[in-house]
Amino acid sequence: MATKKSAPTGKQTASRAAARNTDSAPAKGPAAPSDAATLKAVATQDLAASMPHNANKLAQYGHDNAVNPPQGASSSPSSLAATGSTLSEENTGPKVGSMAGPGINATIESLDRVRVDSGGQMLTTNQGVAIADNQHSLKAGLRGPALLEDFILREKITHFDHERIPERIVHARGSGAHGFFECYQPQTAITKAAPFKEAGKITPVFVRFSTVAGERGSKDTARDVRGFAVKFYTDEGNWDLVGNNIPVFFIQDAMKFPDLVHAVKPEPHHAMPQAASAHDTFWDFVSLMPESTHMLMWAMSDRAIPRSYRMMEGFGVHSFRLVNDAGESRFVKFHWKPKLGTHSLVWDEAVKISGADPDFHRRDLWEAIEAGEFPEWELGFQTFTEEESKDWSFDILDATKLIPEELVPVQIVGRMVLNRNPDNFFAETEQVAFCTAHVVPGIDFSNDPLLAGRIHSYVDTQLTRLGGPNFHEIPINAPIAPVHNNQRDGLHRQAVPRGRVSYEPNSLGGGCPFQAGAAKGFVSFPAPVQEDKVRGAPEKFAEHYAQARLFFESQTPTEQAHIAAAFRFELSKVTVPAIRERMVAGLVNASPALAAKVAEGLGMAVPDPLPRALATPVTPEIAQSPMLSLMARPGDGGIRTRKVAILVANGVEGTSIAAIQKALLDAGAVGRLVGPRIGAFTTASGDTIDADCSMENEPGFLFDGLVLPDGQAAVDALAADGHTMEFIKAQYRHCKTLLVLGASSALLAQAGIESTLPTGEADPGLIVAAAGESPANDFIAALGKHRHPERETDPPKV
Ligand code: HEM
Repeated sequence: MATKKSAPTGKQTASRAAARNTDSAPAKGPAAPSDAATLKAVATQDLAASMPHNANKLAQYGHDNAVNPPQGASSSPSSLAATGSTLSEENTGPKVGSMAGPGINATIESLDRVRVDSGGQMLTTNQGVAIADNQHSLKAGLRGPALLEDFILREKITHFDHERIPERIVHARGSGAHGFFECYQPQTAITKAAPFKEAGKITPVFVRFSTVAGERGSKDTARDVRGFAVKFYTDEGNWDLVGNNIPVFFIQDAMKFPDLVHAVKPEPHHAMPQAASAHDTFWDFVSLMPESTHMLMWAMSDRAIPRSYRMMEGFGVHSFRLVNDAGESRFVKFHWKPKLGTHSLVWDEAVKISGADPDFHRRDLWEAIEAGEFPEWELGFQTFTEEESKDWSFDILDATKLIPEELVPVQIVGRMVLNRNPDNFFAETEQVAFCTAHVVPGIDFSNDPLLAGRIHSYVDTQLTRLGGPNFHEIPINAPIAPVHNNQRDGLHRQAVPRGRVSYEPNSLGGGCPFQAGAAKGFVSFPAPVQEDKVRGAPEKFAEHYAQARLFFESQTPTEQAHIAAAFRFELSKVTVPAIRERMVAGLVNASPALAAKVAEGLGMAVPDPLPRALATPVTPEIAQSPMLSLMARPGDGGIRTRKVAILVANGVEGTSIAAIQKALLDAGAVGRLVGPRIGAFTTASGDTIDADCSMENEPGFLFDGLVLPDGQAAVDALAADGHTMEFIKAQYRHCKTLLVLGASSALLAQAGIESTLPTGEADPGLIVAAAGESPANDFIAALGKHRHPERETDPPKV
């Protein structure tokens, strides 16, 4: 396309500059292409805008659609620059050759041979077979189990599983610990699973927490879902409950998992951004997949930036089955409830922590266990029958939906305690291999089509990650239940089987090892299967917004404000305005109020709502679910393991510092002396105290609370150090508890901090004490609140 050159106006210059950004853009792209970068921005915007919603969504549900899938929507770019990786693709050379044209997959000449452009092309398998439906697994009936025959799904997932080595393809960044599960009361009426057989029964566990999108060395405090994977080494074999800290998921069918992960991972051309969803491809994908709206609400909430692994819930997500000795089955959703309550970071804090301590969560878990402060969760079951669930407004096989606790209460059945750090990170945490297929008698699967793909995926990917077969023999993966079978040989084999029999039936080994039979062996629950073999989804899967609304409506005003701010931040990082527009149009369906707030934050008008796949809205069973708020589980109000900074400098008043340090220690918190440097300082009375960290190496946002000391000379020294103001402002902005002793109230004034809330009321997190007073109890009680959101303004005042 020819571009007309003219002298740029101020506005044009700004949008031309914006077209060069890789991580943010104004509400509207450049109006006219004046050079290559703006041409690309304009053409990209036009292309994305030409697909304002996912036209196929309307035809993805029900039997008739399942047997007659539509052709996918596609659109041609006005310029090839829109779909290119780079503006520099026109710089040809003997090694790189030339750029790819639309539809070309040349197999000759230098790199041209392998360059692919799928513009205008149909989706195919690796065998060149056109794929009629890229949305659904092949199942026996719309609600039926997925079928092994599904060569398309297996090819797609198998390829995905082996995409990245040597780290995990997803959840690469994580930390683990050993512990035990203790059963409170026998659950034998509903399940014969080994861990639930007797009151007091102990089952060893290994747990790994993780982020999803980042690489192995990425920061802990990324905005992301957290993995919560538990391996139970039961006396009847290993059971892995491979869950997340969010009870729902982005997609409904395993067929879409590689697409989702490709969209959220760093973009393939320049490998940016690391461990972040705030970029074009993620929002392009999810805005075309309205079923992700509910999960997006959770992912944009403070759940996605936990304060600690120890302070987050865990969920099995899918419906599973429990089966008892009589062969009777109920469905179950698994929940982990943290004893310390649910607490999160705030976004500004998470961003800063990721620079100062990328290992924040790993360190927190390790230090707590080393200190004997063993993290603890209770395990809960939500159980229900097929019959009970039939009339619910959502399908229990749809992983984008949860079952409100107000509809089916959670029954607590036991507790898990993590009481031992690994001896070696690689041998244990890195080599551990969880798998949803690892179940024991008494636990079985539902027909959730997302779960079916997972059952295949984990072992498959681990074959590459852990170097071939036999990784089940790596000590961390080996069960404590005996293993006897006729599987033999392969890379890295450890077991040395005796004798010459490696087949069954045999007589040379006396028939051993023999088939266990129903009394002791795993028998799949005989759920009936009798429907057409189809790719499709049940009609109820077409409802995409009711639970997104339920979640949003169930949050406190502060949590709602954080969700809106998170959408604003993430979508402000999108460089293609049409993608933003499409996403906000989807939010209108979930919550017009939220959509309006996000649109305002992005400087754009509220768009018309996206068309809905389900024309008639459903009537949800529950309009408000208070248990969905993080505030529903404050914990016991204690401050064990909380970290408090006590600023010191020469001339500090030592008696009040010693008193507060002792009170914190007695309450189980960690009070650290933080100086302008580490090392010895002299108090006003001539004693020596030792700062164990400095404002430079442990900045303010790493602490849960702050004590500003008395002692005029110390206050003068701190006032002259620029770090002090940053330290205090971070604590204040993140709504933490501050104790201000004697002369240090001058530091508050210097930081521009008001002594009252914006409403004029007293600030419950700001405790100012006269010289000689040390209100430790008030401070500890305020710290137990974790944060004081009453103070928060958007934008922040300090
Ligand atoms: C079809 C959908 C999914 C597929 C194909 C899939 C696949 C994978 C793969 C290949 C890994 C790496 C495993 C390894 O290298 O050991 C992984 C890890 C993990 N996945 Fe999924 N996943 C899916 C959905 C989910 C969902 C819905 C959850 C939560 C309920 C989840 C939770 C996890 C966790 C916690 C890990 C990390 C396990 C660890 O700590 O080693 N995944 N997933």
